[in-house]
Amino acid sequence: MPIINRIADFHDEMTAWRRHLHAHPETAFEERDTAAFVAARLESFGIEVERGIAGTGVVGTLRGAQPGPRAIMLRADMDALHIAEQNGFAHVSQAPGRMHACGHDGHTAMLLGAAKHLAETRNFAGTIHFVFQPAEENEGGARVMIEQGVFEKYPVDAAFGMHNWPELPAGHFAIRPGPMMAAFDIFEITINGRGGHAAMPHLTVDPIVAAAQLVNAVQTIASRTTHPLDSAVVSVTQIHGGDTWNVIPESVVVRGTTRAFSPAVRDQIETALRRIAEAVGAGCGAAIEWRYERRYPPTLNAPAETEAAAAAAAAIVGAGNVERAPVPSMGAEDFAFFLERPPGAYIWIGNGSAAAGGMLHSPHYDFNDAILPIGASYWVRLAETVLAKNAAATPG
Ligand code: NI
Repeated sequence: MPIINRIADFHDEMTAWRRHLHAHPETAFEERDTAAFVAARLESFGIEVERGIAGTGVVGTLRGAQPGPRAIMLRADMDALHIAEQNGFAHVSQAPGRMHACGHDGHTAMLLGAAKHLAETRNFAGTIHFVFQPAEENEGGARVMIEQGVFEKYPVDAAFGMHNWPELPAGHFAIRPGPMMAAFDIFEITINGRGGHAAMPHLTVDPIVAAAQLVNAVQTIASRTTHPLDSAVVSVTQIHGGDTWNVIPESVVVRGTTRAFSPAVRDQIETALRRIAEAVGAGCGAAIEWRYERRYPPTLNAPAETEAAAAAAAAIVGAGNVERAPVPSMGAEDFAFFLERPPGAYIWIGNGSAAAGGMLHSPHYDFNDAILPIGASYWVRLAETVLAKNAAATPG
């Protein structure tokens, strides 16, 4: 079964939505015009709308033609990134320094397209909550929606998410049970030494030398501390210290991020990083200030929902185009917070080759409008399967 015909009919409309959103990107928790755009579309389809969850989050609720006890969440993210777009097409960002470089404009347009079709047909039993979340990037908009009671107000039996994936060809999907995306934590290590004249280093405690040793030493965490078959990343991404040629600074700040799939490895990384930082500091005679924050949990797909998602994808693009064992990404995804509550599944939809469309977060990226009806059709098939009318008689 290919793309749903009725959805193909409004491919142009979805493209216009997507390009409007692309031209007017808004970043974390500032998605005011985007949320208003989404809410107005949902209401025009006859869907009940609540605005303002987590500031700019929107939830649309649609009941099927047949009553049923089950409810599901279909989620899209709405936020853009702080990136200066370098594309030249007509729908280029009109907001300086902001850009839809991760395709959340496309995610929003695909879920709106699915909502339009499902509102016309209501060919399911039970309830669908369309969740348009703010601040997927960095700021944990999903976590804030949960803190503000989204699951108490809109209880669901399963939650589903989707992200475009430039490395996958258009017309393909990829999904696996278990980890899809990694846990994401951040660290900040301040090395406090004793500043002084660069020509008299013996009178100082040099935090720059300590920082250099620290950066090297943390490379042993993934290679020497964790099991060779476990996945772990420790990346130092910032070093700040010093102002001029002939002064050894008082302190240096080292920042970075860590990634893991399992809670045990996550704990191991944090423990080892702290031990190494304190030992390097002690070895150099410097004092260490330590800050470590757990940001996003790993994105873990539940087996039954993964099967349902893979079957829905196969119904649209054919089983041969649904990759069932993709290598998980060490990137992170805010949808992970939703998956800590009900079971669910998160799928990648092919966005075409990276060379053609640009990598995620590249200033040359653009969402591939050709896949809008594929993604919208997937959402519809998934909802109609998970909330199948003939299944409504059996309590779920
Ligand atoms: Ni994204």
